[in-house]
Amino acid sequence: MREVRAAGLEALALATQLLRRARLADPEAGLWEAADLQWWWRSPRRSDELEQVFWLDEEGPGAGVVLTEWSRAWGCDPLVVPGVSPAEIWPHALARIEELGLEHVETLARDDDHELRGLLAGSGFVAEDDSGGITWLEAERRPEVVPPPDGFRIVDRTETGDEPHPMRRRNGAQVEARLRQTPLYEPGLDLAVEAQDGDVAGYALFWLDPVTEVGLVEPMRVEDAYQRRGLARALLTEGIERLARRGARRLKVGYGTEAARALYTGAGFRVAVTDRTYRLTAA
Ligand SMILES: CC(C)(COP(=O)(O)OP(=O)(O)OC[C@H]1O[C@@H](n2cnc3c(N)ncnc32)[C@H](O)[C@@H]1OP(=O)(O)O)[C@@H](O)C(=O)NCCC(=O)NCCS
Repeated sequence: MREVRAAGLEALALATQLLRRARLADPEAGLWEAADLQWWWRSPRRSDELEQVFWLDEEGPGAGVVLTEWSRAWGCDPLVVPGVSPAEIWPHALARIEELGLEHVETLARDDDHELRGLLAGSGFVAEDDSGGITWLEAERRPEVVPPPDGFRIVDRTETGDEPHPMRRRNGAQVEARLRQTPLYEPGLDLAVEAQDGDVAGYALFWLDPVTEVGLVEPMRVEDAYQRRGLARALLTEGIERLARRGARRLKVGYGTEAARALYTGAGFRVAVTDRTYRLTAA
């Protein structure tokens, strides 16, 4: 395979091609959809300028190592299409971590990915005690839309575009401009739930990939003061209805907490695989 280096939106485009190819080859392999990496683009990061490495064959990108600066650590995500072993690119990932002098690095691995877990253990990565997973639902088996409780209404970004974006508090003032730079972001799938006084009680973003026909939910949040009133269920059922009507055949959402797992499985999503974070701390 031929090595190609690219940064910023060019790297995001290569990762999108790679992850679509992987999803078309296998309906559930790997961890990420193209839309996940487009969600990662929501805030400016030092990693935007970093040259990311991909390997291309005659069909396009078949492997890549994506490094992402998060607040707690750098993410290192080896991406491969089915048939390519992570062992083929892992030495490169380690060399990059060393060359860049990254002190804290995290990699998420599926619990059933024995090959990657072996590589992580062999290079000093230690399992964290988090535990999450990935859930899937066939669109035709989606639940009925459950409206929010009295006093709340669901709005999308086509209706509220002149107000500040509800995600700016956690993701920074540029969040909407950044999301609009990604090819899969759609304002009509960018939902929020508002209380009667206009306060934003929660939000959720839904992503349709027309190539893979997968609809992804990321992120989903209800503010602490508004939890346990059915607002997440209302956002989720409304969002997946919109995804299905726009052509999604399969719906996906990952979880990292028991509350989120219960929310998604309660709506009919099935846990396909569990996963865990592995962390490398420089000596
Ligand atoms: C997860 C989260 C979105 C749930 O929002 P919410 O509006 O409180 O959820 P709902 O009231 O709609 O609850 C729907 C179902 O989810 C499950 N659920 C929600 N909160 C739960 C909790 N704290 N513990 C266990 N189950 C929970 C329940 O099955 C619930 O149904 P029930 O109330 O009939 O038992 C919210 O807790 C949150 O934003 N947490 C922080 C961010 C986060 O973890 N987001 C998910 C990332 S994948």
